[in-house]
Amino acid sequence: MSQKKRHLVTAALIYANGPIHIGHLAGCYIPSDLYVRFLRLKGEDVKFISGTDEHGVPITIKARDEKKSPQEVVDYYYNLINDSFNEFGISFDIFSRTSRKIHHKTSSDFFLNLYDKKTFKEITSSQYYDEKENQFLSDRYIIGKCPTCDNENAYGDQCESCGKTLSPMDLKNPKSTLSGNTPVLKETKNWYLPMDKLQGNIEKYINAKKDWKSNVIGQCKSWLNDGLKPRAMTRDLDWGVKVPIKGAEGKVLYVWFDAPIGYITATKELDPDNWEKYWKDEESSLVHFIGKDNIVFHTIIFPMMLMEHGDYILPENVPANEFMNLEGKKISTSRNWAVWLHEYLKDFPNMQDELRYCLITNLPENKDSDFSWKDFQQKNNNELVAILGNYVNRVFVLCDKFFNKKVPKISSIEIDKQIFSELENIKEKIESSIRAYKFREAMSYMIDVARLGNKYLTDTEPWKIFKDDPDRVKAIIHNSIQIVANISILCEPFLPFTSKKIKGHLNISDLSWDSVGSNIMPTDHIISGKAHIFSKIEDQLIEDQIKKLKLSNENNNVMPQKNTIEFDDFTKVDIRVGTVIEAENVPKSDKLLKLKVDTGLDQRTILSGISKYYSPDDILNKKVMVLINLKPRKMMGFESQGMLLLADDSDGNLSLMQPDSDISDGSIVA
Ligand code: MF3
Ligand code: ZN
Repeated sequence: MSQKKRHLVTAALIYANGPIHIGHLAGCYIPSDLYVRFLRLKGEDVKFISGTDEHGVPITIKARDEKKSPQEVVDYYYNLINDSFNEFGISFDIFSRTSRKIHHKTSSDFFLNLYDKKTFKEITSSQYYDEKENQFLSDRYIIGKCPTCDNENAYGDQCESCGKTLSPMDLKNPKSTLSGNTPVLKETKNWYLPMDKLQGNIEKYINAKKDWKSNVIGQCKSWLNDGLKPRAMTRDLDWGVKVPIKGAEGKVLYVWFDAPIGYITATKELDPDNWEKYWKDEESSLVHFIGKDNIVFHTIIFPMMLMEHGDYILPENVPANEFMNLEGKKISTSRNWAVWLHEYLKDFPNMQDELRYCLITNLPENKDSDFSWKDFQQKNNNELVAILGNYVNRVFVLCDKFFNKKVPKISSIEIDKQIFSELENIKEKIESSIRAYKFREAMSYMIDVARLGNKYLTDTEPWKIFKDDPDRVKAIIHNSIQIVANISILCEPFLPFTSKKIKGHLNISDLSWDSVGSNIMPTDHIISGKAHIFSKIEDQLIEDQIKKLKLSNENNNVMPQKNTIEFDDFTKVDIRVGTVIEAENVPKSDKLLKLKVDTGLDQRTILSGISKYYSPDDILNKKVMVLINLKPRKMMGFESQGMLLLADDSDGNLSLMQPDSDISDGSIVA
C-alpha cells in the first residue's frame, strides 16, 4: 500500500429517490466513514466527499409514481437522507447535490473539454419514441415480452423474471409505460464515449492494480473480456444537465457521466482554494467506496473520462462491497423489505453504534452477507454489553471503590510492560487491516483489547489482594485505566459515539491514534465512578421489529388504488343479494363451480372460480352478492349470467362476500 500525502475519499452519490437503508450503510457509507475516521486520527490530510445523485431515470420514475415533479422528489429525499446520515454519525466533510448550479457548470465544462478534444463519436440511431407523450423512451420506460422466458413485463434493460440483460429492441411487443402505447422508432443523434477504442488504456491501468479486491477485479475482467462497446454519454431526456452544444436541444448528459463528476464539484464547493491539490496532484490518493452495482462506472467509465480529460489523477482504489441481505432475503425497496435508517433512529434512539457494530461484523466485504434482528440482539447483548461495556464499567467501579475515582499513582517499574506491548501490537494489526480495507477483521482486533483487559483483571484479581498488597492493586487499576483510555481511541473509527462516551467518563479530550500503546491517563486525574455504555436489548423489541418488517412487506402487496371514476360509472353496476339454490362441480375444471342463484328477479346460472376454496356443500343455501348486469360469458361450455362478489388477496386467497343479516333476495347492494 502506497501511502500518499493526502486522501480524497468518496462514498457513492446516492440517488435521491428513496430513504437510506442498512444495505446502503453496509455497502459503502460505514466502510468509508470508518476509513476516514481512522485517517483523521492518524493526523493525515483527508477530505470525505458524498452527496445525492439527483438526475437520471430513477428520479423521473419516482416523480411519476408519486405524481410530483423531479425537483420536489429530490428536495424531499435530499433532506431526509442528509438528516439521517447526520444523526447516524457519518462524518462527511460535505454532502452535496448534483442539482446545484455549480455542478451543472462543472459537469458541462467537463463534457465540453472532451467534446473539444473530439473524444466523442456522434452516432445517429433509432430509438423508441412515444408519440403520445412526445418523448424518447429510456430503457426503463419500455416493457414487453422477454425473448428468453416469455415474461410479459420485462423492462427494456432487464428481465426481472429471468435476470437477463436486455436492450429495448430485444423485447417482443414493446409498450411505453408512460402511455401504454406501442412506441415507434425514431432517429436521434447522441454523443458516445468510444470505449472500444479506449479499452487498451483502461486495461493497462487495471492490470497495474495489484491490491484491488478480488470481487472488483473479477467484474472488471468480465467487462474487458466481453469487449467494451461505445456508450452514449448524452440522452434524450428533459431532466438533467443540458448538453452544452448546438444541435443537442432536448438532451441531457447521461446520469453516469455527470454523477461521478459530482465528486469533483463537491470538493470544489468544500475547499474552493485547494480542491485541485486533491484531484490533480500525484501525491493524492483517490479512493471510491461503492456497492457492487456501481463497479463498472468507477473502475472503467469514470477513469476513462478522467484519462481523456488529462488533468486529473485516477482512482487509486475502488474497494466495492457486495450486497447485504435482510433476514435471508434480498433487500427490496419496492417490496418494502428493508430496515430504513430514519425509522431505526426513531425506534432505537441513541443506539447508532449498536447498529454500526452489527453491520461492521457483517460487512459484505467479499461476498453477500445477511443482517438479522436476532443477530443484532445477540451481538449487542453478548459482545457490546458483555465484553466491551462490562469491561469498561468494571474498571471505573474498581477505581471508585479502591481509590475514590482517582487514577492511582505508581512507579514506572510497576507498569505491566507486556500489556503495553500487546496494545502496540494490536494497534498495528488494526492499522494494517484498515489500510487493506478489511474492516471486519480490524474491528475484531479492537474487541480483543477488551478481552485482554478483562483477562488481566481476572488473572490478577485485585479485589482479593487489596488488603495484603495495596500497592499491587494500585498498579493493576492504573494499568487498567490506561487500557480503557487506549480503547477509547482504538474504538473511534468503529464506534464513534462510544469513543466519545468513554472519553467523557475518563474526563479526557481527543487523542491521536499514535498515542495508543502508551500511558495516557495522568496520576490523580479524576474519572467517573461508573460507566454505563451499552444496554441489553430485550426480546420484545426484537420481536416488534420482525413483526413490523413482515407487516410492512405484506401491506406492500396490496394492489394500488385504481383510477378515479365518476359516481355515474358506479351506478351502472347492478349488484343484488341472492341465495345459492344449487351447486355442483364443473366436469374437467379444477376451478369452477356451477351454481344456480335466486336473485329475487329470477333464477340463473352462474359459474364461479372458487372450487379450491368452497365445495358445493359449503356454498349451498348461502346468501351471496351477485353482479347481475354483467354481459353473459361462456365458460367450459356453460353460459354464466353474472358474477359472485369475492375478496381476493394478492396471494390468491379468496373469500366469499355475504350480507351480514338475513336480508331478502333482490335487495340492491350499493
Ligand atoms: N446514484 C448511484 C446509485 O445510487 C451512485 C452514483 S455514484 C457516482 O447507485 F459515481 F455517480 F457518484
Ligand atoms: Zn426473462
